[in-house]
Amino acid sequence: MEEVEVIHAWSAPRSLSTSLMYSFSQRNDVEVLDEPLYAHFLRVSGFDRPYRDQILSNMESDGNKVVNDIIYRPGNNKYRFCKHISKQRVLGLPEDLIKKGKHFIFIRNPLDILLGLLELVQIYNELCDIGKPPPVIDAEELQKDPEATLRGLCNDLEIPFQPSMLSWEAGKGPCKSWLILCHVVNPFQPFPFYLYDLLERSLPLYNMLRRHVKKKSSLLSSPLPLPDLPVPANEKLLAWVGDELVTRDSSKVSVFDSVVQGGDSVWEGLRVYKRKIFKLEEHLDRISDSAKALAFENVPTRDEIKEAIFKTLITNGMFDNAHIRLSLTRGKKVTSGMSPSLNLYGCTLIVLAEWKPPVYDNERGIVLVTATTRRNSPNVEGNNAKADDAIMLDQDGFVSETNATNIFIVKKGRVLTPHADYCLPGITRSTVMDLLVKEQFILEERRISLSEVHTADEVWTTGTMGELSPVVKVDGRTIGNGKVGPITRKLQAVYKNLTEESGVPIQNYLET
Ligand SMILES: Cc1ncc(COP(=O)(O)O)c(C=O)c1O
Repeated sequence: MEEVEVIHAWSAPRSLSTSLMYSFSQRNDVEVLDEPLYAHFLRVSGFDRPYRDQILSNMESDGNKVVNDIIYRPGNNKYRFCKHISKQRVLGLPEDLIKKGKHFIFIRNPLDILLGLLELVQIYNELCDIGKPPPVIDAEELQKDPEATLRGLCNDLEIPFQPSMLSWEAGKGPCKSWLILCHVVNPFQPFPFYLYDLLERSLPLYNMLRRHVKKKSSLLSSPLPLPDLPVPANEKLLAWVGDELVTRDSSKVSVFDSVVQGGDSVWEGLRVYKRKIFKLEEHLDRISDSAKALAFENVPTRDEIKEAIFKTLITNGMFDNAHIRLSLTRGKKVTSGMSPSLNLYGCTLIVLAEWKPPVYDNERGIVLVTATTRRNSPNVEGNNAKADDAIMLDQDGFVSETNATNIFIVKKGRVLTPHADYCLPGITRSTVMDLLVKEQFILEERRISLSEVHTADEVWTTGTMGELSPVVKVDGRTIGNGKVGPITRKLQAVYKNLTEESGVPIQNYLET
C-alpha cells in the first residue's frame, strides 16, 4: 500500500457530481469515495434524512477517523477521488481535510438547482486563503463540452487525462456517458417562482464562483478572447453606480434603466491633476443644466454628486492622471417604455474613474477627416478612415466641431474657433479662449469654412479627455508644415500650467 493523492470534488447536491464521480471511476488509476463525510454530517447536525439510522450504523461517523483513516489512508491506486457535498463539511473535522490533497469546486447554475452555494463559496475562500485557489468547473460546461472540460480539469489538478473518463459502465446513474447526458438533462423549464428570493441570494454566489471557471461556453459569454486593457491598472477599480461603490465586474445598471431603454442620459468627462479636479464646478454646472434641459426628476443634489466623486477617487487612490466619466441617467423605469412618467425611482448616478493619460498623441499630432453625416455616426466615419476623429459640419456646411472635441485654427497669426451655435460649448474650449486672451493672441469666434481648415497654418482640438491635440492632417491635406505649430505649443504649455495650479483639491474635501 502506498500513499495516495487525494482529489476532493466539492459541489452542491444534484449538480451532476455523481456522474462526475463515475467518470473518474473509469480511470485505471483512481478509486472513488462517495460522500465519505455523510455519516459525520448526520451525527453532528442531527438532521433526519432517509435511512439515517442505517447509514449511521454502516458508515464511519467520526469525522477525524473519516479524514485520517479513510480519506487519507494509503491505497493501491495513485489517486483517490472524494465526492463531497459542501454542506457536509460541518464542525469537528480536522484541518487536514482542506489543507492536504487537491481540491476543486463544481458548480451548477442555481436556475437549475438552488442549493448549497454559500458553503461552496466558503470552501473556495478558505482554499484561496491558504494559497491553494481551487479550479472551478461548471456543470453546464461539462455537459456542453465534456472532453475539453475534463481535460482542463485534469490539467489543473496536474493529473494525466484518460479518455475512459468520457463514459462509464452501464447501470450506473441515469446515463452512461457525458455525450448522452448532454442531451437528456437540463431541458428549458419554468423557474419555480416561489423560490425567487432564494434565487436572488444564490445567483451572486454562483456568479462569483463562475467568474473563476476557465472556459465558458455559455451562449451569453463573449466568443472573443479576453482583450488587453489600454491601462492594465484599471482592471481592479471601484465604480460608483446608483448609491454605492462596486467592483469593475459588478458595475452594471439595470436593464430597466433609461440609458439601456433609450440612451436617455447625460454625461461629463472630468480630469484629475495633482490631487485636484480640474474645472469641477463648471462640469457640475453643465451636467445639472443638461439634466434640467431634459427635465430629469429626482436628480441627486450637487453635494451628493460631489461626495460620490470624491469617495470614488479617494477609495481608488486616484489623485493624478485620472479621468472621470460622470453619467446621470433618467433612472430605472417601472416597465420598459420611452415615457419619462415611468421613471419612478429617481436618477441613476454613475462615477467611473479610471487611470487615463490624455487620449490623443499630443506630441506628434492627430489626423482628422470630415464626416459626411451630420448625426450619430461621425466617429464611425473617422474610424473607417483610420483618422483619430471626424470633423462635423453645421447645417449650412460650416465647421462645427469634431465628434469628441472642439476645434481651433490659426491663420496668419489669428486664432479662429466656430461660434457655439452648433458645437458643444466645451469647458476646455472656453478655458483655452480665456488663455488666448490672457496671452494676448487675436481670437475670433466666427463661422469657419472647411477650406479655411484645410489651408490653416495650425489646427488643434480641445477636450477634457485629450486636452489640446495638434492636428497635422485633415482630409489628406497636411496642415502647415505637418509639425506641431508654435501657437499650439504655447497654448499646450499654458494649459498644462493651469491644470497644475487650479482645480478643487481632493485632500481639502477630506479635511472638511
Ligand atoms: C462632441 C464634443 N465636443 C466637445 C467636447 C469637449 O468638451 P469639454 O472641453 O467640456 O470636455 C466633447 C467632450 O466630450 C464632446 O463630446
